[in-house]
Amino acid sequence: MEVPFIDLKAQNRSLKSEIFPLWEEILESAGFIGGKHIDAFEDEFAKACNTRHCIAVNSGTDALRFILIALGLKSDDEVITVPNTFIATTEAITQAGGKPVFVDVDPITYNMDHRKLEAAITSRTKGIVPVHLYGQPADMDSILSIADKHGLWVVEDACQAHLAEYKGHKTGSFGTAGAFSFYPGKNLGACGESGAVTTNNGDLAKKVKQIRDHGQSKKYYHDIEGYNGRCDALQAAALRVKLKHLTAWNESRRKNANLYFDLLKSIDCIVLPRIDNNCISVFHLFVIQVENRNQVQKRLSKKGISTGLHYPIPLHLQKAYKYMNLHPGSFPITEQAAERLLSLPMYPELTKAQIRYVSEELISAINEGVEEC
Ligand SMILES: Cc1ncc(COP(=O)(O)O)c(C=O)c1O
Repeated sequence: MEVPFIDLKAQNRSLKSEIFPLWEEILESAGFIGGKHIDAFEDEFAKACNTRHCIAVNSGTDALRFILIALGLKSDDEVITVPNTFIATTEAITQAGGKPVFVDVDPITYNMDHRKLEAAITSRTKGIVPVHLYGQPADMDSILSIADKHGLWVVEDACQAHLAEYKGHKTGSFGTAGAFSFYPGKNLGACGESGAVTTNNGDLAKKVKQIRDHGQSKKYYHDIEGYNGRCDALQAAALRVKLKHLTAWNESRRKNANLYFDLLKSIDCIVLPRIDNNCISVFHLFVIQVENRNQVQKRLSKKGISTGLHYPIPLHLQKAYKYMNLHPGSFPITEQAAERLLSLPMYPELTKAQIRYVSEELISAINEGVEEC
């Protein structure tokens, strides 16, 4: 049996009849930039996240970068985040003019370890960017209370956690602002590139809107230099259609996760995802830990099962950050996880038979040993 890591084709097929009429209308009107679908999507996504504002942009990276630029980072301003995230998190900090500072993650949730946060705060720290990794919210109460104590802002990297909840509130609604990615493989994915900023702060929303559109508040009146970082109408229309299905898709992901939990819970050598009682995860990824990860992955691949690694090289050990002079051993929890983590297939359309097959093959790979791989 073939089990892809994600199956976007299945989702596209089921939505064609809803998306195509909207795209036809946009093609007919040639209204590709701005327009009613952008405005409507921004309203609908803000409502879904329970925030006052949503600003649709070109990607999750732009969402993060524009928030940080709007917050006015200056060179040498430090921003604390985690080393086990996609590089976009730290690219945004650096490109907005700041300096990323890492704290290690919690060994249970893989999210920012608030117990290590205060030790990383200096007189140059301006803010914190927790990442809601794999769809599970970070420990927001602890992070917000430390930020409050030290006068720091908090920007949520919610690029993997659309509509996930912490103590009954949606991600993207806790901090000064939240950043979302609608990269095609995300829980809410565009048919191309797209992202959004959510915030309750009207001034910040206004600034981000300006920054995404060449710094102009009115056509050809540029108050500042900005970027070409707009979301286009075709993406917004597709996202409006998909947003209606997001709650059901997230529920299907949780059901799929529960079946994996049932089938794998008695296998000692597998560390399953652990979801904090305060959180409702949206299982963007279903990430386990196993010994001999690379061999297990190869073996599953031979059986037609695609898996992923999120992330195999921690950011502080990437070539791009050699200048930080951080060596192996700097963030042991992240480093140990990087060698053992394996992301199993996870998407709403995954069938029970596929989950059973993945689980059986995973158990065989572990039980039979992996020498012959
Ligand atoms: C945690 C995290 N942050 C930021 C991003 C950047 O989003 P995008 O690819 O839309 O720029 C991603 C997307 O992969 C992500 O997973």
